[in-house]
Amino acid sequence: MLREPEARDRTVFVELLASAEVHTYLGGPRPRDELERELSGVPERWPGSFVVDLDGAMIGQILLRRATGHRRPAAVGKVDLGYLFLPRAWGHGYAAEACAAALDWLAGALPGEPVVLATQTANARSMRLAAKLGFTEVERFEAWDAEQWLGMWSPVTTSG
Ligand SMILES: CC(C)(COP(=O)(O)OP(=O)(O)OC[C@H]1O[C@@H](n2cnc3c(N)ncnc32)[C@H](O)[C@@H]1OP(=O)(O)O)[C@@H](O)C(=O)NCCC(=O)NCCS
Repeated sequence: MLREPEARDRTVFVELLASAEVHTYLGGPRPRDELERELSGVPERWPGSFVVDLDGAMIGQILLRRATGHRRPAAVGKVDLGYLFLPRAWGHGYAAEACAAALDWLAGALPGEPVVLATQTANARSMRLAAKLGFTEVERFEAWDAEQWLGMWSPVTTSG
């Protein structure tokens, strides 16, 4: 289930953001004590910020954000998809199901809106997920000492 963040998710947010495994291809985790200090009681709520809930507990986060300052011109101003799941929830198809639902929500909220996604090419799980969701390659580029992949997704529109 996709839902808004709630105060009870704070512990899982800290776990997610402090996880070295989750941040292998994302520039490394944030220190746990810093997160404990900085994360407010109720995580920020805004349209496009989803908690992924499995049987009443948070297992991941999906963000759909407008990429105002993206480093690739093709992505500037586009909606950008991001996803982080707890390692214990990997390998079950939950991320694919949840991201597809988030894209479906966006297609209803902003019909016709394309979405971009940037991920390291070394992040094999993320690359497989992007392909499964229907993202196609725009370009590859070097950043943060790694090869990055920029993909784009467009909703299927029916005509007539
Ligand atoms: C990227 C990430 C979300 C992918 O998670 P994931 O669980 O591998 O992705 P999916 O939901 O697509 O699940 C696919 C796996 O579930 C398996 N699976 C098991 N049961 C399934 C089912 N009923 N339906 C679909 N897939 C199923 C698939 O076979 C596949 O396994 P495989 O990769 O070993 O072949 C996760 O690795 C993650 O959070 N990484 C850290 C954060 C990160 O790097 N984010 C990228 C930011 S750009």
